[in-house]
Amino acid sequence: MTALAGKIVLITGAARRLGRAIALSLAAEGADIALHVHTSSGEDLAREIAALGRRAWVMRANLARPEEAARFSETVLAAVGRIDILVNNAAVVFPTPLPTLTASLWRTVLHTNLTAPFVLSLRLGRIMQRRGMGKILQLGDWSGVRPVAGYLPYCVSKNGLLMLTQVLAKTFAPQVQVNAVAPGPVLPPDSYTTVERQAVLARTPLRRLGQAADVVRAVRFLVTMGNFVSGSTYFVDGGCLVSEPEGTSTSL
Ligand SMILES: NC(=O)c1ccc[n+]([C@@H]2O[C@H](COP(=O)([O-])OP(=O)(O)OC[C@H]3O[C@@H](n4cnc5c(N)ncnc54)[C@H](OP(=O)(O)O)[C@@H]3O)[C@@H](O)[C@H]2O)c1
Repeated sequence: MTALAGKIVLITGAARRLGRAIALSLAAEGADIALHVHTSSGEDLAREIAALGRRAWVMRANLARPEEAARFSETVLAAVGRIDILVNNAAVVFPTPLPTLTASLWRTVLHTNLTAPFVLSLRLGRIMQRRGMGKILQLGDWSGVRPVAGYLPYCVSKNGLLMLTQVLAKTFAPQVQVNAVAPGPVLPPDSYTTVERQAVLARTPLRRLGQAADVVRAVRFLVTMGNFVSGSTYFVDGGCLVSEPEGTSTSL
């Protein structure tokens, strides 16, 4: 029997990149998957999951709006019935240099990357706790613990996510395990120039970019076998945390 047979997983931002890889991997472990999307279609992925013999639901919401995130948790519960595992993967990342950073940009990043995971974790986690079991997994970032100049709201959102993980792990114990996976340089934006890629490689001790599979393995471990792990952050960062801190060579 596969590890997640009979489980229902909700993955936010599931249609592309890491979310998609996580969805396919957990479906291969036997889970049915609720696929949250915002602008992507998600229908191809749903068909791929159906081809694995699992159920898939595609549900749309703009998680930059906290009220919509709250409504979305109810929509999911009405459509699917229950969620056994929540993977908060959706996020926005874009440069926000201080001279052009506005309160509106700040809100967009913080709401999408931190408030939405909080809202979903609280609503679904409480139900998991009442049911006596469940797992919540947050997608953090190594830059949640190392400052990156020009990305203030993003770094703050990811740092907050790590504390959210710890507090919820305590709050929902012993029924629900709450953990985070914090990738390093894994799938850089397509817009990255060769020079930017080389700079990333130069500060990554393992001297390569990670692959989606590196992150997926950590997620799969935590949701299938990590029954005595809660409140932890698993860094999948090619050793970035032990290299020279980014913050020493940059300034806001
Ligand atoms: N890729 C990396 O190397 C890396 C490194 C460190 C940390 N991470 C973290 O790992 C996670 C996945 O990374 P990724 O690079 O695969 O992410 P991504 O492609 O940048 O974004 C994931 C999804 O977030 C959704 N999203 C964006 N804005 C949204 C909004 N307002 N409402 C709802 N959904 C929204 C998008 O859904 P639609 O496509 O449907 O619009 C998108 O597909 C993120 O939390 C990221 O911070 C990634």
